[in-house]
Amino acid sequence: MQREVPYPSQIPLFDELIGERVIVRPHRLDDFDELWEAIQQSRDELRPWLPFADQSEEQLRDWLAHVVAKWITRELLGMGIVERATGHLIGNIGLMVRGWNIGSFEIGYWQRTSAAGHGYMSEAVRLVTDFAFDHLDANRVMIRCDAENARSAAVPQRLGFTPEGCMRRDFAAPNGAIRDTLVFSMIRDDPRWPAAPASH
Ligand SMILES: CC(C)(COP(=O)(O)OP(=O)(O)OC[C@H]1O[C@@H](n2cnc3c(N)ncnc32)[C@H](O)[C@@H]1OP(=O)(O)O)[C@@H](O)C(=O)NCCC(=O)NCCS
Repeated sequence: MQREVPYPSQIPLFDELIGERVIVRPHRLDDFDELWEAIQQSRDELRPWLPFADQSEEQLRDWLAHVVAKWITRELLGMGIVERATGHLIGNIGLMVRGWNIGSFEIGYWQRTSAAGHGYMSEAVRLVTDFAFDHLDANRVMIRCDAENARSAAVPQRLGFTPEGCMRRDFAAPNGAIRDTLVFSMIRDDPRWPAAPASH
């Protein structure tokens, strides 16, 4: 059923979601330095998939300000991913609100190149998805990616999200090429984490 959510700003959120190896927490304005450095270090890997690889410092500061503001209004839950072992910010995960009234959300993510290959993003996606179903009354959590972005698609595949299909010639990649979009989802009734490693 649809529900009335007259004041999304009053929906309780969290200070941090604590996983085995990462912590997910709302972005802060003072994330700027670590975010900027992470993007500089990861430009080549970000550029094919995301539009902000070559943004200016002012653009990043402006983005961060909007993310902090939208956390308060619950328009977008933009979060940093912190590596527990070092305390460093290693990436970003966003829970985009498609509709509070229907409990529909979408997750987007990136992480610095030096943090890749450890399962950190898969863990962060699990934490955020669990929060959406367990505390935000989600009906659906979706992940979309460029059909050519195999590493991104591997995250929902690894976690047992259901592949829903491919939207052909759906969007323009940062280089202007028209690309296909893969769609994955988990819904409330799905078994959660059937394909995830037993240690999690
Ligand atoms: C998409 C992106 C976040 C994926 O990063 P990733 O390192 O592949 O993902 P994870 O952090 O979940 O790590 C998974 C890797 O760690 C390995 N791993 C090690 N320990 C693991 C564990 N405990 N659990 C899960 N995976 C583990 C996996 O085998 C996998 O490695 P493989 O690809 O060699 O098989 C990253 O490539 C990225 O930021 N890309 C640029 C931005 C981008 O494309 N964003 C998405 C736009 S839609």
